Amino acid sequence: MASINEIGATAFVIAAIREAEAEQPEPLFHDPFAAWFSNDMARTAARGLDAVFPPSTTMVRFRTRYFDRFVERGVRAGARQVVLLGGGFDMRAHRLANADDAEDLFAENRVTFFEVDQKAVIEFKRGLLESRGLEQPPSLLANYLEVDLATELAERGLDPGAPTLIVWEGNTMYLPPESIMPFLNRLAEGIASFRIAFDYFSVDLVERDFEAADVQRLEGIEKAMRATFLTGFPDLAVFETEAPFAVAESGSFAELGHEFGLGAVVDGYPEEWRETLELYRYCALAKG
Ligand SMILES: C[S@@+](CC[C@H](N)C(=O)[O-])C[C@H]1O[C@@H](n2cnc3c(N)ncnc32)[C@H](O)[C@@H]1O
Repeated sequence: MASINEIGATAFVIAAIREAEAEQPEPLFHDPFAAWFSNDMARTAARGLDAVFPPSTTMVRFRTRYFDRFVERGVRAGARQVVLLGGGFDMRAHRLANADDAEDLFAENRVTFFEVDQKAVIEFKRGLLESRGLEQPPSLLANYLEVDLATELAERGLDPGAPTLIVWEGNTMYLPPESIMPFLNRLAEGIASFRIAFDYFSVDLVERDFEAADVQRLEGIEKAMRATFLTGFPDLAVFETEAPFAVAESGSFAELGHEFGLGAVVDGYPEEWRETLELYRYCALAKG
């Protein structure tokens, strides 16, 4: 773990939050593997998140359910390959295939998962899976901003001509703002037809000239995560004007709470918290 840098280390914190799902009165997902990647430091960080802004870990719960749904819907619509981009300790490749309520969607349709993350993160994950008798899916160990992602994935078995789902969860905020559009445009050149879903902050994180209370909450979250948020998207139109995408869906995670049967939790938050939560959103872009 010593060689995993501060961005990679955020993956442990997310695992610690998912580990706690089983104890929730109304679990939104089943991730029996999360505990493998959790540790005391990550649990302390997760508690720190809730201390600075109590809805923080709830939003990670909502986002996990959202990306599960994104994959499930995409597979129902015909996609047979899923890329977990900056996947960290995402165990969807194993847990969706084995979910009780998956209706054998994944088994019957033979969905292939691919994972992309930094070398140290995937080596750690692969080692842990091997020690428990599980196989790591085909993986690219690289900084995905620095490689030709479509070609690298094709070398690992991805068909660049077939419909593809890309889960880009918990990543955009850590990337340099100037890297985003060149990266997405390169990806769009290499893969014919895909949907990419991501979570994001809908503010300019460079200028940070938004509400003082929101800045304070965001900076508290950065401190608890021990990472800096570099990129936000105040306007999703950039993906349609500066890249060849259509915005297929977008909204706030707090709104999704209602769809997931936890509307009362969101409605119970003070109004100023609910206003801050409007800044944390999801988006799915479609190409081809
Ligand atoms: C907050 S974690 C989220 C992990 C996972 N997607 C989830 O939600 O559980 C961010 C992950 O993205 C990876 N990551 C961020 N930028 C990356 C890059 N440029 N290349 C490869 N991996 C990256 C980090 O190493 C880390 O594992």
